[in-house]
Amino acid sequence: MNIKELIVYTQQPKLYEPGNAVMWTDPYISKQLLECHINPDTDTASRSNDKINLVIDWIDLQLKSKKVSILDLGCGPGLYTEKLAKRGHSVTGVDFSGTSIEYAKSKTISNNSNITYYCKNYLDINFKECFDVAIMIYLDFCVLTPPERTIVLDNIYRSLKKDGLFIFDVINSKNIEEKILKNSWEVCKKGFWRNSPYIVLNKLALYSTRYRIAS
Ligand SMILES: C[S@@+](CC[C@H](N)C(=O)[O-])C[C@H]1O[C@@H](n2cnc3c(N)ncnc32)[C@H](O)[C@@H]1O
Repeated sequence: MNIKELIVYTQQPKLYEPGNAVMWTDPYISKQLLECHINPDTDTASRSNDKINLVIDWIDLQLKSKKVSILDLGCGPGLYTEKLAKRGHSVTGVDFSGTSIEYAKSKTISNNSNITYYCKNYLDINFKECFDVAIMIYLDFCVLTPPERTIVLDNIYRSLKKDGLFIFDVINSKNIEEKILKNSWEVCKKGFWRNSPYIVLNKLALYSTRYRIAS
């Protein structure tokens, strides 16, 4: 990369401006991500196991002990789906990372948990009134652009039975500066992002515009 390209790539993007980087579905990066997902002690790609258990307890509390059909959008390697199935729910997971879905499928076979998985983009799902509950966990809704949020909400609405429930999490603005990455840079011979030499330039930007979902 030459210095002119570097200047272009380090300009602050417009709010929700799509980038051209691929992360979740990149064959190399998705393997590093899987290691992060299944590490029970970190909050990187998935929450730590203790926190996941708290989320599962909270979801069950909302369901008032009913056993329901649940659609997990962006299910990753199935950390939530497995626990929900163990509690007697009928569970379907959707994720576009082939690496994560392969891992999730191998777990449902070894655990005999009978979970259905689709390796698919959740912007393209086409279920019709199949589920009591849809979940989208670990801030996935936050990273979508406004048009993508509309598509995903339409898809979820169509997937849910009458009086269905959509559960998702968002980041709140309390102590936001402390919650997000600080500016940093690193040079690696090989590592998380590539199996070859690379430089990472991390820059933090906060945007003041608030997004509202049209009613
Ligand atoms: C932050 S991870 C959370 C994974 C899981 N919900 C958890 O908390 O363990 C986001 C997941 O969403 C998936 N994902 C992101 N965009 C997606 C899309 N458009 N369609 C399907 N899966 C997507 C990624 O592959 C990744 O597994």
